[in-house]
Amino acid sequence: MTMAEKVEIVEVGPRDGLQNLSCFIETRQKVDLIRHLASAGLQDIQVGGFVSPRAIPQFGNIAEVSRTVIESIHGVRFNALVPNVKGAVDALSCGIRHLSFVFSVSEAHNKNNVGKTPEESLQELAAILDLLPSYRGAAVTVDLATTFGCPFIVKVPEERVLLYVQKVHEMGVRRITLCDTVGFGNPRQVQRIATTCLSSFPDVTFRCHFHNTRGLGCANALAAYELGIESFDTAIGGLGGCPFAPGATGNTATEDMAFMFSEMGVETGISIPRLLETVRFLREIIPSVKLESSLARAGLPGAEHKGCSM
Ligand code: COA
Ligand code: ZN
Repeated sequence: MTMAEKVEIVEVGPRDGLQNLSCFIETRQKVDLIRHLASAGLQDIQVGGFVSPRAIPQFGNIAEVSRTVIESIHGVRFNALVPNVKGAVDALSCGIRHLSFVFSVSEAHNKNNVGKTPEESLQELAAILDLLPSYRGAAVTVDLATTFGCPFIVKVPEERVLLYVQKVHEMGVRRITLCDTVGFGNPRQVQRIATTCLSSFPDVTFRCHFHNTRGLGCANALAAYELGIESFDTAIGGLGGCPFAPGATGNTATEDMAFMFSEMGVETGISIPRLLETVRFLREIIPSVKLESSLARAGLPGAEHKGCSM
């Protein structure tokens, strides 16, 4: 097949990246981070999670952050993670129109993360889908967590992944993100799952979300890209991880993924120097957090002397 000359990179740092930090980031700093990301060329940004502040205190200011960025930053599609109807209603009332509804293929992880079985989560999804027509322009992407492995049951049967893809497809969802929540996936596995998904559901736009826990984030993304997946979630500075998945660590760093594609001649719309400035800004707001970013550590080729070591 002919490979796309362009990929879409969806920044999930303000959500996945910040949710695992122990320190609370004030609204102003979150908004500034999102502004930096937008000025680096990121056009799709996940602003946070409309989740219980008891589960994730970091998102205690999600409504304020959402309203402020929607009002003051233009030309960006803002999306937010929602785990249930309440989260969806709250997000929609703040003006968010792109919802990422998360549930996990693994029952053990879903229970730990959102307190529900996958079937119960599907009931929440059905209720959210019923709500959408009342909000102009509203759309849902389903994030299928633990597609490539689960910290509780380790191996997730591929048939189970397909079963849930099929169920959400039957409900009318046409955007699905295959998520490697804990970085267990490998490129061959990605090829198998992506091949079956793409051939069985040609009317679905699939995205991939790879944590770089074991160093395979970009390798997995490349495997998916070569099969025709053109959209990827990443987090600035390689931050991230689900607090309800033991052993979860950072997402693939936005700058590493953008660098890979841009070196390959595949357009991302992102300015890498500006992205590196954003990493520097991130270091200013969370100086004690170690960032997992190869590009920020090494610098652009030919600029070794300028690398900002971390
Ligand atoms: N946002 C804010 N508050 C919420 C909420 C949401 N989306 N959903 C439920 N709540 C509140 C309820 O209003 C209720 O509040 P009250 O006790 O003051 O009346 C309380 O949370 C308990 O509601 P319940 O429906 O029993 O939820 P729960 O305690 O079983 O928690 C979730 C379920 C989904 C809200 C919680 O597990 C959660 O927020 N998980 C987020 C996980 C996450 O973000 N993981 C990382 C991303 S993968
Ligand atoms: Zn994640």
